[in-house]
Parts: sequence; C-alpha cells; structure tokens
Amino acid sequence: MQIDTLTFDNYPVFLAPMEDVTDISFRLLCKAFGADMVYTEFISSDALIRHIHKTKAKLEVAEEERPVVMQIYGKDTEAMVEAARICEEARPDILDINFGCPVKKVAGKGGGAGMLQTPEKMLEITAAVVKAVRIPVTVKTRLGWDNDHKIITGLAEPLQDCGIAALTIHGRTRAQMYTGEADWTLIGEVKQNPRMHIPIIGNGDITSPELCRQAFKRYGVDAVMVGRASIGAPWIFREMKHYLATGEKLAQEPFGYYLSILKRQVLQSVERLDERRGILHSRRHIAVSPLFKGIPDFKSTKIAMLKANTVQELFDIMDSISTIFKTI
Ligand SMILES: Cc1cc2nc3c(=O)[nH]c(=O)nc-3n(C[C@H](O)[C@H](O)[C@H](O)COP(=O)(O)O)c2cc1C
Repeated sequence: MQIDTLTFDNYPVFLAPMEDVTDISFRLLCKAFGADMVYTEFISSDALIRHIHKTKAKLEVAEEERPVVMQIYGKDTEAMVEAARICEEARPDILDINFGCPVKKVAGKGGGAGMLQTPEKMLEITAAVVKAVRIPVTVKTRLGWDNDHKIITGLAEPLQDCGIAALTIHGRTRAQMYTGEADWTLIGEVKQNPRMHIPIIGNGDITSPELCRQAFKRYGVDAVMVGRASIGAPWIFREMKHYLATGEKLAQEPFGYYLSILKRQVLQSVERLDERRGILHSRRHIAVSPLFKGIPDFKSTKIAMLKANTVQELFDIMDSISTIFKTI
C-alpha cells in the first residue's frame, strides 16, 4: 500500500491522533510495538499562527517515529494555510486535516466535524492546504453530521479531487460523538467506489487483532487506524500485526512484561516533560489500561496509583500489584 511516495507493508495499522494522548513519547512507544504510522495530537491552526507556546510544542517529531503525520484543525482557510506551512517546516511525513472532531468547542464553532455541515468550506480548505504545501495532505473525517446526513459516500470523491493522498473515515456521525457502535458499511462503500483511487483508512472500535483482520477482509480498507484500544496498551499493535501476519494470536506474556511497558512509558514522559507533568500525563493511560482489569479488590490500589505524585511512589504501588498478581 502506498500513500503518495510512502510505501507500507501489507495490512498497515496506524495509531490514531488523540489529544492529550499521542504525544511524542506515546507515539514512539506505539511505533516500537509495530504501529506502521503514528499521528500527532490535533493542532489548532488559530493557536499555531499566534505562536502559542503549548501549541508549538506539538510540532516536535523524532526521526525514529517516522512516518509521522501532523494533524491540524480550524475553520478559517487562511489560518489553515498558514498553519499548514508552519507544520511543513517541522518536517512531518504527511499533513492531515481534522474534519472529525465532535467536541463542542471545536465542532460547535464550525471546525472539526462541524465542517460536515459546510462541505463546500471543507473542500475549499482542503484544496487550499493541498496547494500550500509540498508534503502529502490527507483528511480524517466522520460519516456525516447526524444519522439523516451521512454524506461521506458523496463527499469522498470531491475530497479526492482536491488532491488529498488518503482519506480516513471514522465510522460514526458527529451526533454520535463516541457512543453507539462504529458503522463500517459506508467505509466499505467508499472503498468499493471504482472512482476512488486514494487509500482509504478505516477507523472506529477496532479493539482486538480479530476485529482488525475483519476490517481488512470485510471492508477492503487499505489501512486500519486504532485509537482508544491503544491507550494504556501500546502493545496492542504487536498483537494485531502478529495476527495479521500469521493468523495466530500471540501468547500472553507475564504480567510483569506489560507492567514494564507502562513503567517505561511513565519514565519516558517524565524525561520529556518533568516528574509532575510526566506523571499527570501517564495517569490517563494507567486509568484505562486493560492490564489492571479483573484484579480482585483493585479499586483502592487504582486510586492510589492515580494519586501518586512521584515516580518512586507510583512504581512502589505498581510493584505491589505485581506481588499480589503472583499470588492469585
Ligand atoms: C481522548 C481522545 C482524543 C482524540 N483526539 C483526536 C484528535 O486530536 N484528532 C482526531 O482526528 N481524532 C481524535 N480522536 C478520535 C480518534 O482519533 C478516533 O477517531 C476515535 O477514537 C475512534 O477510534 P477508536 O474507536 O479506535 O478509538 C480522539 C479520541 C479520543 C478518545
């Protein structure tokens, strides 16, 4: 599979862009576990052109994480063009435009999935951004605004005509936010459209190696993008890639193997940020990690982990879980 000049192995699996989740440490970790391509958190075009420090920090990419996609959002064509140029200078491999974010502060103002209500504006921005930069531009969007306006099958071709190099479709409407189930049938329809020649990346509710394989086989997508299932479980890419390559599930590793990965993530975050912010950032991953699911009487230990203020404190609690785990 090819996106512009980037070539991928069979059945590529990508790490989805996720705000406050896919910072550089997490992207590197997912890459190390087999993610074929990783996406930055979305970057506000308005904040970027105003040189807001926190936003500019999102422009950092590492050589080891390539190919890496940088994602921008916004509702104003000029700001998006200017932001695209700033991003290009940071040398990502691809620039992605977010037309899928459902949250009120973005979609309610016309950005992100809000653009699904103004497809002409969406196409104007896309064409202008494609023209403004030399790197490939891709788009990530949803099925439509709501159940009565699932416009993606009619929108994919005009987006392609703007010159984008690939299209990611999250199989939900804006109205669904993150509820209900992702509907992959329209993703499959876009892929089957004989006039579509750019890669279609399917996204939504891929939480296991089996579902990942099914998405490729049933809907014919060129790549699968995984979001929430990777939070607190960056090793999921290894499991998916192994299953896609062999048709067999990887054997479970001991508890300590996965725990050491979470610890590595904490340490990498602390190293890049500082102890306080690194720990804060890691909490989100620890809170939802499947590693701790099903441990009896775990609630108070989990609360203690999420309250820990130092690496030492956190690792002591984690090690105590390891000990309990060995005895159950
Ligand atoms: C915490 C969180 C942050 C997200 N931030 C972004 C973002 O910055 N850009 C984007 O395009 N999508 C964002 N998304 C949506 C995901 O990229 C993805 O489309 C969605 O979670 C569905 O995939 P999944 O079922 O594999 O999680 C976010 C999702 C979550 C849960």
